[in-house]
Amino acid sequence: MAQIHIYIGKGGVGKSTSSSLEALRFANDTDKKVLLVSMDPAHNLHDLFNTKLGEKQTKVSPNLSLSEFDLDKKSREYMASIQKELKGLYHYQQALNIDKYFNILKFAPGMEEYASLLVLEQCFDEKHYDEVLIDTPPTALTLKTLALPSVNLHWVDHLIEMREEIVQKKNCIANIRKENLNTLGEDPIFGRLLRMKKRYAKLKEQLQDKKITEICLVLNEDELSFSESLMIQEQLKSLSIGISKIIVNKGSVASQQTEIIANSFPQASLELIPLGEKPIQGLENLHSFSKEITMFRQ
Ligand SMILES: Nc1ncnc2c1ncn2[C@@H]1O[C@H](COP(=O)(O)OP(=O)(O)OP(=O)(O)O)[C@@H](O)[C@H]1O
Ligand SMILES: [Mg+2]
Repeated sequence: MAQIHIYIGKGGVGKSTSSSLEALRFANDTDKKVLLVSMDPAHNLHDLFNTKLGEKQTKVSPNLSLSEFDLDKKSREYMASIQKELKGLYHYQQALNIDKYFNILKFAPGMEEYASLLVLEQCFDEKHYDEVLIDTPPTALTLKTLALPSVNLHWVDHLIEMREEIVQKKNCIANIRKENLNTLGEDPIFGRLLRMKKRYAKLKEQLQDKKITEICLVLNEDELSFSESLMIQEQLKSLSIGISKIIVNKGSVASQQTEIIANSFPQASLELIPLGEKPIQGLENLHSFSKEITMFRQ
């Protein structure tokens, strides 16, 4: 199973740049197979590497491949699969116009977060790479995506209780009518809810396990990105997700602010990426700049 590294942080702090530099460092310094994935709907890995990219994994160096996920396509695929399943489950319900519901549902809140979660799940299932690095969009969407397994688990637990009651009541009526009784095990909706529960519980566990998921918080030395980082730390803590690594991008080793940052995240390892003098773009530039990363707390 691949180790997952999620790069999170305020807009513009350098998540794409840091994850690209680290992906190259992993790929060059070790013989590990590395995949760098963009989960940001506004992708820019193709600009950073000066190459055309899509969802298909593209090899850019012997050990490094890149991929930019199409979140719209992911939600369309998800809707299509659910539509098919519901049509099967509710084939007897002519009154329920499922197509009409789906035309509205695609604009429902949470679709983008759910599509991002599907990408994350795909990364956890990745069999061909040792390290999978994920470049994320700015904080809000990423935090919602990381919260989704816990939130969904909560909902599914309630739905399971409701379904148990429904099946029980259906059985009371069937008993009176002397019809066949259905056990919970035979109920397709109950079965689906149990599968959902298992899936979200697994995702939640994977995100909370630091041996599987490394959360890398990227920030700059300015006050705004620092205070947003403290907020990220708090929110992740409420999900029992710990931050493994702090990356001070465009930082200077001896600055007072770096020391304050280091003290605010005592459990995390610390890395520093200096401010580049020229744009850090293209495989060659990225490769040589990846050697500038300083690790000063492992
Ligand atoms: N260490 C650095 N030295 C010089 N320039 C940098 C450095 N890191 C990032 N930049 C520049 O800062 C800008 C923002 O960087 P980047 O796109 O990596 O940030 P981001 O956090 O991914 O942004 P977004 O939230 O929009 O996805 C880019 O122009 C990038 O080239
Ligand atoms: Mg970015």
